[in-house]
Amino acid sequence: MEPPIDLLLFLIPIYVANSSPVVLGGGPPLDFRITLQDGNRLLGDGKTIRGFAGGVLAGTVAGGAAAFFYRSPFFPDIQAQFLGAFVLSFGTLAGDALGSFIKRRAGVGSGRPFVLDTITFLIVALALAYPIASANLYDPQNLIFFAGLTLIIHPLANLLANRAGLKSVPW
Ligand code: CTP
Ligand code: MG
Repeated sequence: MEPPIDLLLFLIPIYVANSSPVVLGGGPPLDFRITLQDGNRLLGDGKTIRGFAGGVLAGTVAGGAAAFFYRSPFFPDIQAQFLGAFVLSFGTLAGDALGSFIKRRAGVGSGRPFVLDTITFLIVALALAYPIASANLYDPQNLIFFAGLTLIIHPLANLLANRAGLKSVPW
């Protein structure tokens, strides 16, 4: 396992990409209001084009800015680290949308809590980064740290966002 500071800095683009749509989102939904055979929306109104694009951009800028003064041990070179900021951010929003897709298929309404809310985005981000990241990123101890911290931070961040008036629900 790498030092916790390296693990925390690695998570910057993922956490920024996942949290920023709450403030940056709004406008037309990402699924163009398409409803599937099961009668439920493809993704629902909780996933907007602006939230997706804004989240990817914010995560990429945050991770890219960090790469200017910090060399991550999880990418073979600085180019891969910059590209990684984008790939991790895109993976985060793609995973977030995948989570909503699964929720809608399970009949869970937009904004309702769901087990996968907390972790799908992390799994997809890590999976998409596989071709460009160093193999040590996927050490089991690192993955346990990422998953464990995210399972704690995600509900806490949502609760704080609710208390701060950014979100109508505390999850
Ligand atoms: N958001 C957005 N676009 C995204 C993701 C999030 O606009 N791609 C905004 C929406 O305003 C959303 C809020 O961020 O309501 C919180 O995100 P999240 O909890 O992921 O969405 P939910 O509303 O809970 O919808 P779902 O049940 O589909 O996850
Ligand atoms: Mg939600």
